[in-house]
Amino acid sequence: MNQPLHPNHHSPEPGFALRQTLYKGWAALAKPVYRVLPIASPDVISGNQALAEGIAELSKQGIRRPVVITDTAFVDLPVFQRLLDTMNEAKLNYSVFSDIVPDPDFSIIERGIEHCRNHDFDGVIAIGGGSSIDATKVINPCARHNIDPRRVPGMLKLRKRGHYFMAIPTTAGTGSEATAAAVITDEQTHQKKVVISLTVVPELAVLDPSLMMGLPPGITAATGMDALTHAMESYLSRYATPKTDALNLESMARIFDHLPRAFHDGANDEEARRQMAIASHNAGVAFTRTSVGWVHAIAHQLGALYGVPHGLANAMVLPHVLGFYLPFAQPRMAQMARHIGLPGASDADLALALVDAVHNLCNQLQIQPLLSMVKEEDIGRITRNVIDEVYRSPYPVPGYFRSYGELEAFIRGMMVAR
Ligand SMILES: [Fe+2]
Repeated sequence: MNQPLHPNHHSPEPGFALRQTLYKGWAALAKPVYRVLPIASPDVISGNQALAEGIAELSKQGIRRPVVITDTAFVDLPVFQRLLDTMNEAKLNYSVFSDIVPDPDFSIIERGIEHCRNHDFDGVIAIGGGSSIDATKVINPCARHNIDPRRVPGMLKLRKRGHYFMAIPTTAGTGSEATAAAVITDEQTHQKKVVISLTVVPELAVLDPSLMMGLPPGITAATGMDALTHAMESYLSRYATPKTDALNLESMARIFDHLPRAFHDGANDEEARRQMAIASHNAGVAFTRTSVGWVHAIAHQLGALYGVPHGLANAMVLPHVLGFYLPFAQPRMAQMARHIGLPGASDADLALALVDAVHNLCNQLQIQPLLSMVKEEDIGRITRNVIDEVYRSPYPVPGYFRSYGELEAFIRGMMVAR
């Protein structure tokens, strides 16, 4: 192999073309599999009494010794005390594992497994953001069946079911309570490992907007943009189905209508919080079947290298990737624009209006879609990792970069204001 390690866009990249061909074949082969995969959706309890109703359901299921899994900051919030009070009233012999941090790594997962086993648990309650729910997806079956969590990343490698799993998202964004995937960080390589398993979807999702009222505007914005990214990448996926289309279009409309409201007046506007929780959940149901795309692949690198929170990273990348998709996905983008009520005389106008609308939404949410944190010397590595993630997963994206160099140039383009 005489190929340079970091080819620029002036050099031919025969290896790249071959990889792309192999990826397209793999994505085409996987398509019918994804369409029929028996991915369960959780039962949903929603509304401002959902927390109490969820605990009642847990008791009805015969769970007596649940472990509550949450993050370090969450235990100090009043809503956490509400959960404990409700469990005390239900006379549950619970234990709390509160060591989860954003982007949890395997050492935390191992501690959680030990905690569950020591408590002789018979159920799990994940409460918090996506990290707590993702961690619980791995902790639960690994603790129940004594599985090494470092061996479960990958496609369908984790096949054993944990105990009854109730997920209570307190942000509206990740949709993790609806998905068959969990992201765990490898503390040695700093790369994110994705666990995809049909058995990790929670049995019950509790969507209680009253738990989300105290979420600060910045987190509301970032997590809400994660939900929008799920809906849009899922809608543009080559694996989209009529059912996922319906869920995604409806999610996008809810988000454009209610995310600015939740951002500006989230402490009072319970309806906006409720709509965002449903939008996020439905986008989760959809993207777990269709997968995501370039936005997530690039955002994961911003998280891994520079610690940019997931939702914020997606928000910064989304409008740029939509711009890149214009020549590939114009009719679908126009359909999204129509559904959220944007004006435009032609598909071309509507698709452009969609890109502008996402830029404007970022402005309203005080998010700058500017990747100023990226270091020039990292771009080669980022490019390779992004291609690896998209091609290996596979993410069935609607449009492709023709070379590493083209993707490098695209990333550089996101580093300067438009
Ligand atoms: Fe996401």
